[in-house]
Amino acid sequence: MTDRLLSIEDLSVAFHTPEGTARAVDRVSFDLNKGETLGVVGESGCGKSVTSLSILGLIPSPPGAIESGLIRFEGRNLLELDPEDLRGLRGRDIAMIFQEPMSSLNPVLAIGRQVAEPLMIHRGLGRQAALDHAAEWLDRVRIPAARRRLYDYPHQLSGGMRQRVMIAMAMVCRPKLLIADEPTTALDVSIQAQILALMLELKNEMGMALLLITHNLGVVAQMASRVVVMYAGQVVEEARTVDLFDRPFHPYTQGLLRSMPLLGARPGGGSRRLNEIPGMVPAITEALAGCRFAPRCPHAFDRCRADAPDLFAVRDGQRARCWLQPHPERRRTDA
Ligand SMILES: Nc1ncnc2c1ncn2[C@@H]1O[C@H](COP(=O)(O)OP(=O)(O)OP(=O)(O)O)[C@@H](O)[C@H]1O
Ligand code: SF4
Ligand SMILES: [Mg+2]
Repeated sequence: MTDRLLSIEDLSVAFHTPEGTARAVDRVSFDLNKGETLGVVGESGCGKSVTSLSILGLIPSPPGAIESGLIRFEGRNLLELDPEDLRGLRGRDIAMIFQEPMSSLNPVLAIGRQVAEPLMIHRGLGRQAALDHAAEWLDRVRIPAARRRLYDYPHQLSGGMRQRVMIAMAMVCRPKLLIADEPTTALDVSIQAQILALMLELKNEMGMALLLITHNLGVVAQMASRVVVMYAGQVVEEARTVDLFDRPFHPYTQGLLRSMPLLGARPGGGSRRLNEIPGMVPAITEALAGCRFAPRCPHAFDRCRADAPDLFAVRDGQRARCWLQPHPERRRTDA
């Protein structure tokens, strides 16, 4: 028996707009095992959120359309489920936390009711039992005086507290998979650390898998055992976290790592200047020949501008979409 929980295979998503067709996600594949934490990183606009919204069937259509691919969850292709079955799965087996809780919480509904609702819908609990359970969860995510706060509205809470409510809402039904899309980006650094620690603690306790989407490699280092790096709608590197930090292969990954802030001060004081990756992510409405990173890549050569590389195995458990690998060791993967 495999431990595989989620498999995304060759997923392509496009947005058909008056300005042209944006190929937001282009033949993306990756897997997630039960209980595992997979980080998905990349600059803004590279397709992280569109990939995660596809899993939940939340791509706005039109203008969006899933053009091809499979999304298997416990062996079932979610793209073929009827809308009612998918709704049943959402919130119960797969839950999601977004960056900005105000856009996901209902401003006119007390938070207790919002945490209780998934229990009434998916677990068939009565109103009072669900509210009791919600109070326990608000307490578990360390909202002070949880029972009294059941009747507070979202605007009465701080950003960090609202994010705790979102976590409680996501966890009440004990999902098998939690998708967290930039769950702490909007928060102060110290609150960010508390929220990440809380997510890790609950994840370990419940044995749940976590798909953690972020542009912050520091968060990935702390939380994830494996990482997928996305660039311009494609996966460009996939590796165990330790290997990615130790021996990043793709020039884009190397650039991302160089642009990470150093922890601690520089000897002699002063802060270290960040290295930015020069250039911009290409517009995904453009027809792109060759490697999409070529215009920004310090190692680009002729072939890179003519042929698009596939994902190649560069070492055990690590793949990169790059022509740089010396020939005898290169193997095409089946991905
Ligand atoms: N509703 C939409 N209509 C048109 N284009 C869209 C829509 N949603 C997303 N896109 C496009 O899809 C691409 C990928 O967007 P996505 O939101 O997945 O990026 P992201 O990696 O999550 O970025 P960020 O780090 O800023 O959240 C972008 O170019 C975006 O403009
Ligand atoms: S294929 Fe070429 S341009 Fe693309 S990342 Fe590798 S070296 Fe750079
Ligand atoms: Mg996003």
